[in-house]
Amino acid sequence: MIIVIDFGSQYTHLICRRIREYGVNSRIYPFNRIPYSEKKSIKGIILSGSPYSLKEEGAPYLDKRIFGLNVPILGICYGMQILAHTLGGKVERKDNREYGSASLQIVRKETLFRGIPGYTRVWMSHFDRVETLPEGFRVLAKTGSIPVAAMGSIRKKIYGVQFHPEVGHTEKGPDILKNFLFNICGAAKDWNLGKWIDAEIRLIRKQVGSGRVIMALSGGVDSSIASVLIKKAVGDRFFPVFVDHGLTRYKDRVKVEEILIGKMGLKVNMVECSQRFLKVLKGVKDPEKKRKIIGREFIRVFMEEASRIPGITHLAQGTLYPDVIESARAGTKSSVIKTHHNVGGLPKKLKLKLVEPFNSLYKDEVRIIGRKLGVPGEIIDQHPFPGPGLAVRIVGAVNRRRITILRKADVIIDQELKKHEIYYKLWQAFPVFLPVKSVGVMGDARTYENVLALRFVESKDAMTANWAHIPHRVLSEISTRIVNEIPGVNRVVYDITNKPPGTIEWE
Ligand code: XMP
Repeated sequence: MIIVIDFGSQYTHLICRRIREYGVNSRIYPFNRIPYSEKKSIKGIILSGSPYSLKEEGAPYLDKRIFGLNVPILGICYGMQILAHTLGGKVERKDNREYGSASLQIVRKETLFRGIPGYTRVWMSHFDRVETLPEGFRVLAKTGSIPVAAMGSIRKKIYGVQFHPEVGHTEKGPDILKNFLFNICGAAKDWNLGKWIDAEIRLIRKQVGSGRVIMALSGGVDSSIASVLIKKAVGDRFFPVFVDHGLTRYKDRVKVEEILIGKMGLKVNMVECSQRFLKVLKGVKDPEKKRKIIGREFIRVFMEEASRIPGITHLAQGTLYPDVIESARAGTKSSVIKTHHNVGGLPKKLKLKLVEPFNSLYKDEVRIIGRKLGVPGEIIDQHPFPGPGLAVRIVGAVNRRRITILRKADVIIDQELKKHEIYYKLWQAFPVFLPVKSVGVMGDARTYENVLALRFVESKDAMTANWAHIPHRVLSEISTRIVNEIPGVNRVVYDITNKPPGTIEWE
């Protein structure tokens, strides 16, 4: 396995994800919890970037004992700077941050840059830069603005790159990472999900014993596939609960009723409680407040349901690997951008043992598992939907009228994108309600109604995303239908912000 040492960068998961994509097992460890006891299975180490600057107070340090593992090391961004600093080089802080695309000139083409053309585009995001190399290191690449864009010691098998090879904007990023994995570390391609299901079913049976398992089912990819897997493991001792908080789209209930109950044979307890959620959300405009209120109420409803089923011993969650790492980071500077709904306080309050079959997997790995379990494409390939539901797609206060507008627009968007075979090419495509009114004209009459924004994005993992360049003709059809068919909307705008700097959801 290749271990990724996490210094808190937003890109740490991308690194791990990429490595697994190339068939190599990879895990993330916080910078102060390096798994020395697993020494034998470590083939190489990657040091991530960080939101800190090297000389800032509280900046994460590099544990020197990693050099004693005697395996190749690649430092990325902060990872390179801290390598240089720890090994006796000099790192300087510059006033202006370099952010965006840059042209990298390769100075030495062997090892890390084998097979890479002389000039290639890379993605930069940093303040500090390496000014003096540690002893035994050479410059491997530079850019117009920095003299050490990559450094390395071929003898020590230690390398550093100032840019981010893991992000899609770095043209030859995959080749550079593969050079590190296969040519430098000699890693084996043995990350394989084929045997995972049987092993996991055995593990769940052992964990649960003769107990009973409850789970909040949202109809999303993770909780649906987890439900099918857990049902396979413990049968009728599994009790999935669907909390319909009223912030759902039309298709959410259909998915659960027709597919999960109808086709997959799950016995789901459907709990309708939209009135209750609307009441606690009344007049709340702040995005974080909305998220917290919904999370809290959700837990209340779920606990009430749990208390009705006797003998529950376990709580199952579709927690993914990134959530686990996120919790481990709590308290570090790696900043919380949004409070996610699904990493809430359920486990503590319920005092149940946890079953989390996917806690070492990424989403696309879970999709592969879903296919192997025979879960239909409508579930596996659906777009992600945030736990707080339509509440975070309504800028400002939530009410029934606004929810209805979004639900109708959502249906139109789905129909049109599916008709034009665009839907499955996108990561997400949804409407956002704006509490803004503008003047329009319909027939001969003046209108003064609300605006909807369309947020259509392409992404591989939601860490970065690009707004989708879909044909204008399709946008036009969607806009015309929305304005004609949905009372209360007279204008549609298209969001052309990438992530970063924008997030995908508006709240
Ligand atoms: P942002 O808006 O942070 O979203 O760019 C990244 C991805 O996460 C989804 N999202 C959520 N998913 N619970 C979830 O399960 C949440 O609270 C939540 N908030 C955002 C979002 O739809 C996007 O795919």
